[in-house]
Amino acid sequence: GTPLLSPTPPMGFNNWARYECNLNQQLFTDTADWMLSHGFLSAGYNVITIDDCWMTMDRDPDTKQLVVNETLFPQGMAWMGQYLHQRGFKFGIYQDAGYKTCGGYPGSQGHFDIDVGQFAGWGVDYIKLDGCYVNKNESLPPSETLEPSFRQLYEGFGHAIRSQSRPMIYSESAPAYFAGLSAGTGDRVGKDWYKVHTWIGRYGQLWRHSTDIAVCKKNGESRWPSIMTNYRFNIRLARFQKPGNWNDPDFIITGDNDGLTLEEQKSQFGLWAIMASPLILSTDMALLSPEQVAYLTNYEIIEVNQDPLGIQARLAWRSPASDILVKPMQNVSMRAVAIFNKQNKAAVVSVPLARLGYTSAVDCDFLVRELFTRSEERIHITVPRVQGISIALQPHATALYKITELSNRPSCRAT
Ligand code: DGJ
Repeated sequence: GTPLLSPTPPMGFNNWARYECNLNQQLFTDTADWMLSHGFLSAGYNVITIDDCWMTMDRDPDTKQLVVNETLFPQGMAWMGQYLHQRGFKFGIYQDAGYKTCGGYPGSQGHFDIDVGQFAGWGVDYIKLDGCYVNKNESLPPSETLEPSFRQLYEGFGHAIRSQSRPMIYSESAPAYFAGLSAGTGDRVGKDWYKVHTWIGRYGQLWRHSTDIAVCKKNGESRWPSIMTNYRFNIRLARFQKPGNWNDPDFIITGDNDGLTLEEQKSQFGLWAIMASPLILSTDMALLSPEQVAYLTNYEIIEVNQDPLGIQARLAWRSPASDILVKPMQNVSMRAVAIFNKQNKAAVVSVPLARLGYTSAVDCDFLVRELFTRSEERIHITVPRVQGISIALQPHATALYKITELSNRPSCRAT
C-alpha cells in the first residue's frame, strides 16, 4: 500500500497554550532557529504549527481565499513555509471545519477546496482542523445531534486534502467537541464520543479527543488537573491507536508555564512519551532550562515514544495512589514501563514483575534502566509475583523504565 503519512507520533511546536492569539512571524522564525540550534529538530521535533488568529476577518471578495494578517506576518505564508523548509521543518497551519474559527476568523465551511489549495500552494505539510461554529452561530455544539454534521465535514475536508498532490498531515479536533460539553461534567463523556472515534481515523492521522490543557494565564493556578483529565481520557482510547493514527491528548507544556512543578512537567512528558502520544511543545522555547532541554531531547525517551509498533501503553495497574503503564516495543526482549505517583505527597511504589506481564520469569536476569536519570541495575528474579522494581517518587512524579530481558529465554519474556 501507500506509505503512512505519519508512521510514528508527530512531534513539534505549536504556539497556542503559551501565546494564544499573541503570535507573529518573528515568534515562529525565532522558535525555528532556536529549535534548530538547540538540538530539537534533530531530536525529532520537526513540525512547527501556526494556530488560530493568523487571518484577517474577511475572505478576499473576488477569489474567496483566506487573507493573511500582514501586520502579524509581513512576508506572508509562502515565505513562512520556505523559511521553515529551508531549515528542515515541516509547516503546520490552523483552520476550522465550521463557519468561524474559535477566535472568530473565517472558517472553512463551504470553502474546503479553496482553503486546502491555498495551503498546498504555501507549502503546508500539516493542517490542524478545529471544530468551533459547526453549528452556524454557536461556538460549541448545543446538543449532541451534530455528530453526523461533524462526520460529514471532517470527511469532506479529508477528501479535499487527498485531492491535492501535496501530502498533508491532517489533525482533527472533532472528538474534543464530544468530550463533555460543559464544565463540571467530570470524566463523563458525551453520548457520541466513542462513536466519533469509530470514524475519525479513516480521514486523518491524529485527533484531539479532550478539552484544551489550560493555557498559560500567569495567575498561579495549577494546570495539573487539566493535564490529568486529558491523561485519563487518553487511557480510555488505547484501542483506537496504531501507526498512522494517533490519539492526541494535547500539548506538552513544559517550560515557562506557571503552576506546574518540575516533577509534574517531567511526568507529563514521560506519560505522553510512553502512551505514544504526539509530542507537541507549547512553551517559550528560549526560556527552557538546561534540565528541561535535556529531558525533552532525551534520545531514549523519544525512542520509546517513536517505537515503530506505535502501541499506546496500557494500564497494568491502577490504584488511587499510583498508575503503572506498560508498553510493548518492537524489540521483543524489551518493554517500557512507567510508574506514576498520582498523590500529592512523596511515596514509595513497588511493582512485582509478574504484574508487568513477566508471569513465568523464574531464574531470569533483567536490565532495568530509568530513562530520566539514566541509572540502571541488573536484577535476578526467582519469584516474579514478589520481586520487581521499587522506587521513591516525589509528589506527582513519574519514573520511566526500559526493561530488557537478558537471559534470552522465552519464559523470561513478558506476555
Ligand atoms: C481550540 C483548540 O482546542 C485549541 O488548541 C486552539 O486551537 C484554539 N481552539 C484556537 O482558537
